[in-house]
Amino acid sequence: MPFPASFTRRIKIAPSILSADFANFGAECRAIEAEGADWVHVDVMDGHFVPNITFGPATCAAIRPHIKGVMDVHLMIAPVDPYIEAFAAAGADVITAHIEAGPHIHRTLQAIRNTGKKAGLAINPGTGLDGVENLLDMLDLVCVMTVNPGFGGQSFIASQVEKVRRLRALIGERRVHIEIDGGVTPVTAPLVAAAGADVLVAGSAVFKGGSVTDPAPYGANIRAIRAAAEAAL
Ligand code: DX5
Ligand code: ZN
Repeated sequence: MPFPASFTRRIKIAPSILSADFANFGAECRAIEAEGADWVHVDVMDGHFVPNITFGPATCAAIRPHIKGVMDVHLMIAPVDPYIEAFAAAGADVITAHIEAGPHIHRTLQAIRNTGKKAGLAINPGTGLDGVENLLDMLDLVCVMTVNPGFGGQSFIASQVEKVRRLRALIGERRVHIEIDGGVTPVTAPLVAAAGADVLVAGSAVFKGGSVTDPAPYGANIRAIRAAAEAAL
């Protein structure tokens, strides 16, 4: 089973294939795992909830056999509910929906849990924690966006670090991961790790300098982010 049976808050690096070579997703997924990625983060965008379009369940199903570990699917789509079954069938281990994507997030999270997959809740930089508290007992992960969703390579929004700290306190002993998505680098990773995050998504900071034919920089980049985060604990 790709998703670990035991819960741990040890730092996990989740490269986002948004920054990969779109013509070589299979090889890119194999390369980042071989270079030390813990999870593979898959950004699904619809051109409606966010101003960019990526891919859907068919691409997720196509890359699934190339991922040995956790396939972490981040849905930046609205509506979400009609597509949950398709992403579950495509082999997602974690399915994350945005709290801003519709009026019935509780129903969406129930639907994700009903597929047997782990349920994630993403919150945009402009969204507070008020609505999150009521959902904590039905969540496996909260994804704190540290950029506005839609594009890779944006700058980390530092004001979100305090939100991560408050979220960590709200979660308490619950087995809920805190994932950070956007602008994660060796400079910003320690800030969110110290605040309580354990899953660090990184697109441009992992893929920069490397390629499928020269993947060694992916490994160096992953190790640099991990080392910086762990040094802050
Ligand atoms: C943004 C995506 C992110 C993005 C992160 O909408 O959800 O996963 O790929 O990219 P970087 O690490 O380049 O900020
Ligand atoms: Zn993402």
